[in-house]
Amino acid sequence: MRKPFVAGNWKMNTDSYTSVNLAKDLASGTLEVASESITLAVCPPFVYLQAVAKALSASNIAVGAQDMYFEPKGAFTGEISTSMLKDVGCAYALCGHSERRHVIGETDELINKKVAAAIAGGILPILCVGELLAEREDSQTEDVVTRHVKCGLAELNAEKVSAVTIAYEPVWAIGTGLTATPQQAQEVHDFIRKLLAEMYDGQLAGEIRILYGGSVKPGNTAELMAQQDIDGLLVGGASLKADDFLAIIQAAAQKT
Ligand code: PGA
Repeated sequence: MRKPFVAGNWKMNTDSYTSVNLAKDLASGTLEVASESITLAVCPPFVYLQAVAKALSASNIAVGAQDMYFEPKGAFTGEISTSMLKDVGCAYALCGHSERRHVIGETDELINKKVAAAIAGGILPILCVGELLAEREDSQTEDVVTRHVKCGLAELNAEKVSAVTIAYEPVWAIGTGLTATPQQAQEVHDFIRKLLAEMYDGQLAGEIRILYGGSVKPGNTAELMAQQDIDGLLVGGASLKADDFLAIIQAAAQKT
């Protein structure tokens, strides 16, 4: 039984005031949501992590980073290590979000190093995978997702991989208002789970949570979560509005 998991990705949004306010609204809005029914996290910009973690300290909502670097310390100007993340109360880190792959230019190899470093450093990685529109139109979705999953998890044994959450985010659905249909998403989630079973074993594949991301809104949460292999949601735009994100959380927590 995979517990639903909803994570908010605030991207390069909010400021010192609005980040803490949003966190406080989420903390009070989730008082009745039992931690046994759902795992919750938000990923604010690095500079607000500590303040947001403090605002959420009495809640069931964990804090995640949107990225991290694989080296433990040293001359890596601008980068942030796992120990720094842990130091400010972070439990998760997104690795390989499509904006990092396609805007910043991260490679599968770099993303693999980040996933491995996160696990080694006690941070739970959320490995993001997903195809571009042109790749879907060219029937390459399965090839792209296979590459992202296999390269992202390269050289990680089953024990390490059990710490990983996968987020399937078709790039054409991110921030566009175009959501994959629940069936389209389910097909890819099922494909990823079978791939994990081939790479590791069926039991581990059955335990790993696979989130869907891309224009998730309160109105499409229930039908996405109704799909057998959709275990949760990675939410961008709608996670910046407390009411919307709380409605998504309430709907996702209904999955049994
Ligand atoms: P979106 O972003 O919900 O705004 O489409 C999702 C994401 O990039 O994680």
